[in-house]
Amino acid sequence: MFSYLDHSLYCEDVALADIAQRAGTPCYIYSSQMILDNFQAYDEALGDLPHNVCYSVKANSTVGILALLAQAGSGFDIVSGGELFRVLKAGGDPDQVVFSGVGKTAEEIEYALSEEIHSFNCESEAELALIDSLAARRGVRASFSLRVNPDVDAKTHPYISTGLREHKFGIDIHEAETVYERARAFRNLDARGVSCHIGSQLLNTSPILLAVDKVVALAQRLRSAGHGIAHLDFGGGLGVAYQSADQPPEIRGFLDCIRKRVEGRGFTVMVEPGRSIVGPAGVLVTRVLYRKRTAHKEFVVVDAAMNDLIRPALYRSHHDIIPLRKTDRPPITGDVVGPVCETGDFLAHGREMANVAPGDFLAVMTAGAYGFVLSSNYNSRRRPPEILVEGKKWRIIRTRENYEDLVRGETV
Ligand code: LLP
Repeated sequence: MFSYLDHSLYCEDVALADIAQRAGTPCYIYSSQMILDNFQAYDEALGDLPHNVCYSVKANSTVGILALLAQAGSGFDIVSGGELFRVLKAGGDPDQVVFSGVGKTAEEIEYALSEEIHSFNCESEAELALIDSLAARRGVRASFSLRVNPDVDAKTHPYISTGLREHKFGIDIHEAETVYERARAFRNLDARGVSCHIGSQLLNTSPILLAVDKVVALAQRLRSAGHGIAHLDFGGGLGVAYQSADQPPEIRGFLDCIRKRVEGRGFTVMVEPGRSIVGPAGVLVTRVLYRKRTAHKEFVVVDAAMNDLIRPALYRSHHDIIPLRKTDRPPITGDVVGPVCETGDFLAHGREMANVAPGDFLAVMTAGAYGFVLSSNYNSRRRPPEILVEGKKWRIIRTRENYEDLVRGETV
């Protein structure tokens, strides 16, 4: 969906430079078609197996993106009351919402109960007790899954690996049966599922499939013990290509492997993909402000910074950076840096890239997931607008913040 035509970079049928000129930079631009294609790849691969693809809202929670997915029939994986609010605002169906997270507050649980969400993915017995008491107070029943920690190594960046015993997430799979047993005592809870999520940006699916096998086996033992386990939730985590050497698993192939392991056993399959749906569908467009050469290095100073896209600074992650207009000039090697007063404010280090001049536009690729959602107002920078492209048309789904937005809620 992002490709060059006559040396100009396009998103679907729109030249990105046209958007950048009209909407200003920096700005996030998303391809609606690519988001829908990725969602459909999940949905279609699961085919006639009862399933629910619950898009993981944390990857990109802008209401315009959620509305696109809600209209396509997506469910949602949320981790806060704020994400539930966004899903409802976007027209999402609360009965297709699962609530994950290790630290749900009483207020958030009450909100979710009042909206009658599908299920809670619970991470501790203390949390089960709280949901039970809040459900009792309202006179309702709540469905839950235990998020089990299958103790498999996801082999990804340590900050986004979650499935090992030493991590804060989930309940040790070896203790899960005992916890489900004890949970029978909670009179307002129904054990309806088992869930897991072992990590993110997984380029190798063997660890997830190992976790799937462990979860299926556990669910069958739970059923034999009389628990009404109806759904299995395998979380998210499928990786995407941040650079050409990355070979991410193909969505359909991966889901086929899950399908084979679950088919014919009478479970509804749920998945919680985030990055693999929106990541490749978004770019951050920025303008070159200055070229600066020191005795040691070449710097390309751009108008986007770590407050707009923190992934390079936080995880040292690579994002390709390409010009909106190709040039014939020989490439340069340099650091792409923003205006924020931190040495960590970089988008690329020692990168071979286009020989750009001040005023030229660049696209930071694969920025649709964990991009805008992790942005901040650091250095009192206004957060950028977000734009959704649909074929030949584009529209602003979030406006650029203004100076008044920066001080909203503050008093002298
Ligand atoms: N389900 C649960 C319970 C999760 O914790 C996550 C992500 C997902 C689903 C979605 O995973 P995905 O399909 O997007 O990999 N900020 C980091 C990523 C943090 C992921 C946190 N959990 C980054 O920029 O790489």
